[in-house]
Amino acid sequence: MPVKILMVCLGNICRSPLAEGILASKLPKNDFFVDSAGTGHWHVGNPPDKRSILTAEKNGIDITHQRGKLFKPSFFQEYDHIFVMDTHNYNDVIAMAKNEEDKKKVLLILDELFPGENVDVPDPYNGIQSNFDQVFEMLEEACESIANKLLKK
Ligand code: 4NP
Repeated sequence: MPVKILMVCLGNICRSPLAEGILASKLPKNDFFVDSAGTGHWHVGNPPDKRSILTAEKNGIDITHQRGKLFKPSFFQEYDHIFVMDTHNYNDVIAMAKNEEDKKKVLLILDELFPGENVDVPDPYNGIQSNFDQVFEMLEEACESIANKLLKK
């Protein structure tokens, strides 16, 4: 059974599609399944934001096949690790947890680089292309660390 990892943001069109694409590019497909979801419903079924697609493409990662979906409480059973982009996402996801085991699966993704500092991946939705490039750099560094840990296990 592959290890299943879920990336979560608000719209599932800007940050979590990048996080999904970056982490998936670092892990063997036979052993790991990486996916993403949003806590908001607005973009369900939509491809990622064009600016995320462009940033990913510039870095050799294709995320055009991804489609937005809504985070469901059943994902706590389905996934082994749930990485959220910011503290809003954290609170929204934790509110759907049924028990401590569910809660333990949820981590703020930049805790990987700055443990205990509660650093958010800034929401670039109302920003410009360079904001997406900055988000990519943060997620690249965090995913490198996450992939190294997962591959050591
Ligand atoms: P994301 O960015 O959470 O990184 O996908 C957003 C995308 C869309 C909206 C908010 C944030 N929205 O309000 O539609």
